[in-house]
Amino acid sequence: MAYSDAMGYPPFRDAIAEYLGAVRGVRCEASQILVTTGSQQALQISAQVLLDPKDRVWIEEPGYPGARQAFMTAGAQLIPVRVDHDGVNVAEIIPRGRNARAAYVTPSHQYPMGMTMSATRRMLLLSWAVRTGAWIIEDDYDSEYRFGSHPMASLQGLDADGRVIYIGTFSKVMFPALRLGYVVVPKDLVPAFSAAREAADIFSSTLYQAVLTDFIREGHFARHIRRMRMLYMDRRRALVNAIQIQMGDMLEVIGAEAGMHLVALLPRGTDDVAVSRKAAQRGISAMPLSICYLKPPTRGGLILGYGGANAHQIHDGIRKLRMSVQGH
Ligand SMILES: Cc1ncc(COP(=O)(O)O)c(C=O)c1O
Repeated sequence: MAYSDAMGYPPFRDAIAEYLGAVRGVRCEASQILVTTGSQQALQISAQVLLDPKDRVWIEEPGYPGARQAFMTAGAQLIPVRVDHDGVNVAEIIPRGRNARAAYVTPSHQYPMGMTMSATRRMLLLSWAVRTGAWIIEDDYDSEYRFGSHPMASLQGLDADGRVIYIGTFSKVMFPALRLGYVVVPKDLVPAFSAAREAADIFSSTLYQAVLTDFIREGHFARHIRRMRMLYMDRRRALVNAIQIQMGDMLEVIGAEAGMHLVALLPRGTDDVAVSRKAAQRGISAMPLSICYLKPPTRGGLILGYGGANAHQIHDGIRKLRMSVQGH
């Protein structure tokens, strides 16, 4: 009940460090774990500690709006880098990236398009960071839920020079209202991150950290992941089927191999913001893909989350979505 360490509840940090070492190939000690209020705060603190106003930051295009917001609030200048089937196009960064301060990437499961960054690009990105003294901010937000292949180990695990800031969250693997995430901070930056957290809101609720520690230590967490992986795989199949049957002529599905969302591209020339608004009027939450772009996208789409809907709701939802696209 008392005030506690700004870095977080020590047994929770031990459990996270152990989990990340075993499951994600992250190389860290518990002393490097900073527990945060979700990955959003992790991004915000990273931006505050690492960036000065006008610093250039590479971000994926399309990319995660939450990260964009955190970096923009710190006054950074965002430079979009296109993603293709191998993840972010590192070759675009290297010739132009001399004076960039950081790159934000989602290598395990690109948000929102869903591809995995290739091993070659990971090595190229790391060597760019070492050569130029830049930081890599790795957002590993949902790597637990892969359906076919095993997830590739983290980029942080390949980093021998302390250039990677690794961010994770319990929002996807558990649920977002927990508001618990973490940063694996390079050792020399621990005092700066700790001070930034102390200045912000001191620390996350000890009660939630302690409960989650027990949940992990008693084996419930691993069981939960196994169970949810099956459930999400069924839901993903239901969504892909429903799209094929009801909207196969309208939507093109991208990135359905992992995670809890997929992207459905709309016919060229369709305004995804308008479709999203129409869908919302029918009670369907479908984020427009265009909000993930800094530059105007060539094609609109919808980001469809399936984690919280059963097969019946998914079928009904796609029926309503069809009406929203047609009525647009
Ligand atoms: C790329 C990415 N990072 C992080 C998060 C989770 O954010 P938070 O941990 O703040 O809930 C999400 C949630 O949608 C996400 O898509």
